[in-house]
Amino acid sequence: MNLTELNKIATAMVAPGKGILAADESSGTIKKRFDAIGVESTEDNRRDYREMLFRSRDAMSQHISGVILYDETIWQNAKDGTPLIKLIEESGAIPGIKVDEGTQALPMCQGELVTVGLDKLAERLKKYYERGARFAKWRAVIDIGGGIPSMTAISVNAHALARYAALCQAAQIVPIVEPEVLMDGDHDIDRCFEVTSRVLNKTFQELRVQRVALEGMVLKPNMAVSGKKCAKQASVAEVAEKTVRLLKACVPAAVPGIAFLSGGQSDEDATAHLDAMNRLGPLPWGLTFSYGRALQAAPQKAWSGRADNVAAGQRAFSHRARMNGLASQGKWDS
Ligand code: 13P
Repeated sequence: MNLTELNKIATAMVAPGKGILAADESSGTIKKRFDAIGVESTEDNRRDYREMLFRSRDAMSQHISGVILYDETIWQNAKDGTPLIKLIEESGAIPGIKVDEGTQALPMCQGELVTVGLDKLAERLKKYYERGARFAKWRAVIDIGGGIPSMTAISVNAHALARYAALCQAAQIVPIVEPEVLMDGDHDIDRCFEVTSRVLNKTFQELRVQRVALEGMVLKPNMAVSGKKCAKQASVAEVAEKTVRLLKACVPAAVPGIAFLSGGQSDEDATAHLDAMNRLGPLPWGLTFSYGRALQAAPQKAWSGRADNVAAGQRAFSHRARMNGLASQGKWDS
């Protein structure tokens, strides 16, 4: 493992003014997104849509540091035969790959899930590296509800995240470590804060036990927010203050960067929260975005599957990328 090189990539992923485009929706998830805009989820439509994003010159060269791909996409070619991964490289962004294989029910823990995909991961990472991927992503899902999360769910998911991260570093790939505490439910922001602290503490404990070099990884956490169905929604200032406090307590300064998931927040909330946090700096790590929905909802709507809407889709994507790029520097103005 070359830690200097891993650190260089991790640092570039959270460069000031830039963040990550999470375009790694699984076949099931992209179908849901396409259903919402009345587009059939065929291989060609998925290709056309993602090609539109990766050919958005402004966004890709100025505000996007890296793109997380799904397995299908990393092997796909653009309409003119250029590999999609080449379009990303040519724009100056770093290609990455989602490597977890989704979740399974956790025995004896009703309703809770564990992320799977460690079997044969070393071999898969080798192929992805040869194809050009320089970072990877693994997402663990923690749900808040009556009596959950259990310590069992937190512990097995942290263990798997650390196993994945160590395998990535051994393959010279920067791991994005993503323990997502879901915002579904009616819990308040303090409950989210408390659960996220436990999850992050356990995750970093496992990362240390499994000898993961913190300098060569990126953390992708949720923010401390109120549950979607909570009657009392925390303000932007409260989300920013509590999330920064939480991260300062749980995330060692050796980690080069933190890139948030958007998790179902509105586009504007995701931008406003990131901006408010960066205004609380200086912070020990780069603090930016790794958004899926909060970057793509607008371009998906503008595109709606029509070739004559490609320019409008690219404008919508570039706008959100620019706004979040500003927020990553605390310079966004609503
Ligand atoms: P969202 O920003 O839509 O939560 O997606 C980010 C992601 O990569 C989830 O794993």
